[in-house]
Amino acid sequence: MIIAANLKTNLTREKTISYIQHVENFIEKNALLQEILVFPATSSLHLHNKKVKIGAQNAYHTYNGAFTGEIGYEQLEEFNIKTILIGHSERRHIMGETQESLVKKFNFYKELGFRIVYCVGEPLEVREAGHQHMMEYISKQYDGIDTAYDNLVIAYEPVWAIGTGLTPTLEDIVAIHKELKAKSKAPLLYGGSVKVTNVKEILALDGVDGVLVGSAALYAEHFCTMCQYAQELGK
Ligand code: PGA
Repeated sequence: MIIAANLKTNLTREKTISYIQHVENFIEKNALLQEILVFPATSSLHLHNKKVKIGAQNAYHTYNGAFTGEIGYEQLEEFNIKTILIGHSERRHIMGETQESLVKKFNFYKELGFRIVYCVGEPLEVREAGHQHMMEYISKQYDGIDTAYDNLVIAYEPVWAIGTGLTPTLEDIVAIHKELKAKSKAPLLYGGSVKVTNVKEILALDGVDGVLVGSAALYAEHFCTMCQYAQELGK
């Protein structure tokens, strides 16, 4: 299974150092075998990739160049970053990234062999418009994406569940994951208000290969407990 923490624009570099250290120690002590990914703020990308794989929350599709405010491959390579998150709903909806721009990033980092965690998910109004409409909406987020890429991980994250404490029912997660698995054999994570109290039942579901956790992962102890549960499930 894959257990991923998206720290977003949280934790200073100093706090991230102790966070990663805590998780590293926990993995070591408990001999965890899961794939554990942490996406810290850009200022903490220099932390070493050891047991925890460090990934970038975003990067531009360039080696270098005149792209003010962006980070490119050369800067990631310096820190040995080989993992990237693409298509998170905050990038799509707050930063206004289009499917076209996500595809450019995807293709660029795919050519470089990156592990790509690619996020899809529907806003509330789309879900409320009915299942078929919702699945069509999500399908469009697969447009231009090589779903057979062997270093791909997909994260299904309903936008209305992110940071809200709301989650779909377990039956819904199973049903949607089943449909998404038909589109790609890549490991499929669930994300959106995952926390210590619900992670076990979510991880146990058919078609769930891991979780992408935001708020609840900000506490290293909580994130470690989730990693431990994943190990216990032995999926
Ligand atoms: P959340 O965020 O766990 O706070 O809902 C998940 C995410 O944005 O990946």
